[in-house]
Amino acid sequence: MNETLIGPGGNLTARERVAVALDVPTAEDALRARDSFGDALGLAKVGSALFVRAGLPLIAELKDGGAQVFLDLKFHDIPTVVGQAVDKAVDAGVDYLTVHAAGGPAMVEAAVRAAERGSTRVLAVTVLTSLDLESWRAGASPDEASVEAAVSRLASLAVGAGAHGLVGSAREAGILRRAGGPSCTVVTPGIHMPGSETPDQSRSVSVEEAVRSGSDILVIGRGVMNAPDPAAALRSVQHALEEVSR
Ligand code: C5P
Repeated sequence: MNETLIGPGGNLTARERVAVALDVPTAEDALRARDSFGDALGLAKVGSALFVRAGLPLIAELKDGGAQVFLDLKFHDIPTVVGQAVDKAVDAGVDYLTVHAAGGPAMVEAAVRAAERGSTRVLAVTVLTSLDLESWRAGASPDEASVEAAVSRLASLAVGAGAHGLVGSAREAGILRRAGGPSCTVVTPGIHMPGSETPDQSRSVSVEEAVRSGSDILVIGRGVMNAPDPAAALRSVQHALEEVSR
């Protein structure tokens, strides 16, 4: 069953609190990246592009290598279909998966019900970091007052439907924490690594800021994947996270 998380990080180790986004094209690239991290890799995030290419055999390889797996496919469909997809992810031993909170309470509930058969945690995505208020209004909710209001509304909806965790921009970690309460796993991308320049993350925050705002799991991709020494870069993030969580 899913354990209770109390406050930022709860009983998770630093290794389990940094999700490395394996945003590479093939399974071979992903496994090469995995090997470059060695023991430092505790949680590997597999997104839709890699999953379409590499599928469940990659999930099995990552699990066999000792990493937890975060399957980031952001399900958004009718409840029955999402429940069936989550069921398959549970069979594959996935540790975390994402659904869109905007799919509504019945869809989130179907995902959580399917996950209860194993120990998979269902994370609900609130508002994608790529959306500003104008694009959010155009695509989802014309009368929304602000992105923050949308994040708060969707976070409450998802937690009310039983979601184990919430995903949103690191800048909105505080909103997610307030909506989710102490037992909710708050997961945030948009983390800035000291010394690395990632052009589409001008709104990113530091590891320390993300943790202080209430983030439990930090999603980091290029900052560690493209580092000259990926294992050292990952360990430095985990170290910073440990320091600020003391
Ligand atoms: O930028 P970085 O390589 O660290 O991104 C890691 C992950 O964070 C990506 O796989 C994506 O899911 C997410 N991301 C995001 N918003 C951004 C940039 C990345 O949600 N602006």
